[in-house]
Amino acid sequence: MTLQQTLSIMKPDATRRNLTGKINAKIEDAGLRIIAQKRLCLSKEQAQKFYAVHAERSFFNDLCEYMISGPVVVQVLEGEDAVAKYREVMGATNPANAAEGTIRKEFAESIEANSVHGSDSEENAANEIAFFFSQIEIVG
Ligand code: RTP
Ligand code: MG
Repeated sequence: MTLQQTLSIMKPDATRRNLTGKINAKIEDAGLRIIAQKRLCLSKEQAQKFYAVHAERSFFNDLCEYMISGPVVVQVLEGEDAVAKYREVMGATNPANAAEGTIRKEFAESIEANSVHGSDSEENAANEIAFFFSQIEIVG
């Protein structure tokens, strides 16, 4: 077990439906600590840069348009095995396949509007955290 940090984003479908508190409760109930958090609106360029790994995918343009359709809340989560732990708490990308009790099972609207993002590796987590936060904004 190692103490890790991961990047979480509450996506526009979650802020629109006023679900940020309910999602934070799921995060904290799972034993993860929210050690940085801010609400912002992504620019098109920021969304394209953040999701650059998916640039060749058929859903890339739709995904970027969706991510700029409303405010997001970006967070740094800390805990034991936080990267994998948060992926578990989120549930599968497609809410139809997400396990009971997960954020996406409970809240996601669709495979695209699936309420949350979580980093998929420790290396990507470090890069994604640096994309949004400076060190003085992260208070463990
Ligand atoms: P995320 O990066 O947001 O945490 O989600 P993920 O790892 O579970 O899924 P990923 O494959 O990385 O896809 C990134 C986001 O793109 C949207 N998506 N749309 N229309 C589609 O078929 C489709 N597939 C993926 C979702 O918002 C997904 O979370
Ligand atoms: Mg992903």
